[in-house]
Amino acid sequence: MRSVILVGGLGTRMRPLTYETPKQMLPLVGVAMIERVLTRLHDYGVTDAVLALGYLPDQFIRAYPDDVIGGVRVTYAVEPSPLDTAGAIRFAACTASIDETFLVVNGDVVSNLDVSRLVAFHRERGALATLALHPVDDPSRYGVVPTDVDGRVLAFVEKPSRSDAPTNLINAGTYVMEPAVLDYIAPHGRVSVERTVFPALAEAGRLFALADVAYWIDAGTPRSYLRVNSDLLVGRVGEPLATRRTDSWVHPQSTVEAGVALERAVIDRDCYVGAGAILIDVVLLPGAVVEQGAVVRSSILGPGAVVGSYSTLGELCVVGANQHVAPGSVLAGDVRLGGV
Ligand code: GTP
Repeated sequence: MRSVILVGGLGTRMRPLTYETPKQMLPLVGVAMIERVLTRLHDYGVTDAVLALGYLPDQFIRAYPDDVIGGVRVTYAVEPSPLDTAGAIRFAACTASIDETFLVVNGDVVSNLDVSRLVAFHRERGALATLALHPVDDPSRYGVVPTDVDGRVLAFVEKPSRSDAPTNLINAGTYVMEPAVLDYIAPHGRVSVERTVFPALAEAGRLFALADVAYWIDAGTPRSYLRVNSDLLVGRVGEPLATRRTDSWVHPQSTVEAGVALERAVIDRDCYVGAGAILIDVVLLPGAVVEQGAVVRSSILGPGAVVGSYSTLGELCVVGANQHVAPGSVLAGDVRLGGV
């Protein structure tokens, strides 16, 4: 089956990391997010994908000169200006001349969703489009999707308050579509699939949805990015990737000095961690440095970032590429270091 993978967003919630690197090229335990997503889709029989690109497209194209990512053959549709989710689907499907049932996936969704089951359900129902739903404890940050007993979508409720949410099933960013859906998307300008196209299809009674309790995460915020890294380490999304007894992963080209405490730490290539440092629930992107005695928790260090000796970084610090945290600093809270 052919697919369109949406990877053209600005990734504003992951700034400053996404100033240099598009979100789906950020690594998850040493492998680019897009590669992990496509590897999983390949396991479900996806053979061809069109990457719907817009923001920093060259980074994808350069990284995969053979045009194969995770076993999937890829082509590229680069938007001249951001078209939003539906505009991007239309542009990519037209560029690739897709003329049969196809899959659409948000490129920042890491999941074990059973795509084959979704496609079979779509065909049984004769739907124009079918979306996967995922149950969450708090649906108030998401698009909530109530259905009837047959799975026909009744409405699309964007970000309801917790008490008003008609269901806890949310749009999981994975869709099966017929080419006729493209007729619901205006040919020019920005169009949102969630705000415009799905409500119109639901109104016409042609939109269906199927819940799946498999692992699912939208890896588009610093918190969820850290979460998916640690889930990969401990085996919540397939085989555990941790290589150390402490549920951590250290790239062979990195140096970790003696007496370092690691818990659910991901240390990518060419990093250095000085003696006595403590790293818990952290991701170090390539070339990051943590000097001796520093303590870093629940934080992301961008490429080439340096945390000075005996600093303490607490809950959700994101240090941008090549930024330096002075020795002895104390940072905590939703701190973002680095800008354009
Ligand atoms: P934020 O700015 O942090 O909200 O991230 P984002 O830009 O990725 O937006 P969001 O997570 O809502 O987007 C969902 C998916 O659609 C992601 O995989 C994006 O890469 C993708 N996307 C969003 N807008 C566009 C667009 O204009 N063009 C293309 N090709 N993809 C888009």
